[in-house]
Amino acid sequence: MKILVTGATGYIGSHTVVELLNNNYDVVGIDDFSNSKKEVVDKIKEITKKDFKFYEGNVCCKQTLNKIFDENKIDAVIHFAGYKAVGESVSKPLMYYRNNIDSTLTLLETMNEHNVKKIAFSSSATVYGKPEKLPIKEDFPLSTTNPYGTTKLVIEGILRDLYKSDNSWSIAILRYFNPIGAHESGLIGENPNDIPNNLMPYIVKVANKELDCLNVFGNDYDTIDGTGVRDYIHVVDLANGHVKALEKILKETGCDAYNLGTGRGYSVLELVNTFSKVNNVDVNYKIVGRRPGDIGACFADTSYALDKLGFKTTKGIEEMCRDSYNFVKKSK
Ligand code: UD1
Repeated sequence: MKILVTGATGYIGSHTVVELLNNNYDVVGIDDFSNSKKEVVDKIKEITKKDFKFYEGNVCCKQTLNKIFDENKIDAVIHFAGYKAVGESVSKPLMYYRNNIDSTLTLLETMNEHNVKKIAFSSSATVYGKPEKLPIKEDFPLSTTNPYGTTKLVIEGILRDLYKSDNSWSIAILRYFNPIGAHESGLIGENPNDIPNNLMPYIVKVANKELDCLNVFGNDYDTIDGTGVRDYIHVVDLANGHVKALEKILKETGCDAYNLGTGRGYSVLELVNTFSKVNNVDVNYKIVGRRPGDIGACFADTSYALDKLGFKTTKGIEEMCRDSYNFVKKSK
């Protein structure tokens, strides 16, 4: 089976390519390196000791996609490529709508023309907005608070409409909770060049003395210690969730959404303390005001993904903290 992976050198894309190759799928990757490095292609080959075909290009480019589908007999697609920084999406909404939605439309049109109708799409738990209850189930109401989230929600709608129009499609919408961690080899992982927006990359840079101090955004939420609670999932578990989703879409038609999380929430301070303990390193922090748009707690009901995909996570919070730091130490 030959799987096209868009955004193949990104954080989640690269870990998924590794797990696909480990599971003996043929992989064709595409990325424009707008938020990843060329060397990731070789790192993936080094980890898996397997080869895969790679195209440098942008998924908005119909010509590039036609070339890929003409040159390779693709069976299914996993679509990661897209911009993902919440703050940037607020200041540059047109850039986010243009890139994320255009690329998806171009991809879906090209797939349709080549009669490839199986796709797994990277969505996000951000589509649940401010959930009224916890844990979050897939049938909860959907809403968003920023343009990035809206691109995910709009694309989910496009995929559902597409399936309604043509029941021969197989579509899995994967709603990620908070991916952290890195491959145990330390060869691939997440290490943004700019000041990170997300918690774990920020913790890592403070531990590494690249940044002075972590700002903890609020300690007055209705949570175990007042700080925000999230469902952190090891990126390798998340990657394996894609393998499970792929098995499903290769087998049967349909269009369905699945939560990919662990079902267990940890607070900011729990994560900071676990990180310090397992890595034996100090993480300076101070409590500051809440970040606008943040919610107090967010964690998944994982029973639907278990029931329908057979997906279960295996890696705990300590492993996530250890692997996140190991990657950054190794890549220095
Ligand atoms: C964020 C996005 C979400 C996106 C996800 C991608 C928002 C509102 N949500 O989720 O749409 O899909 O990233 O990974 O931006 N925190 C601090 N200090 C920091 C950074 C974060 O205390 O410097 C806290 C936050 O308040 C939150 C927790 O850490 O309680 C996790 O934050 P973050 O890693 O940014 O993820 P989310 O906000 O859950």
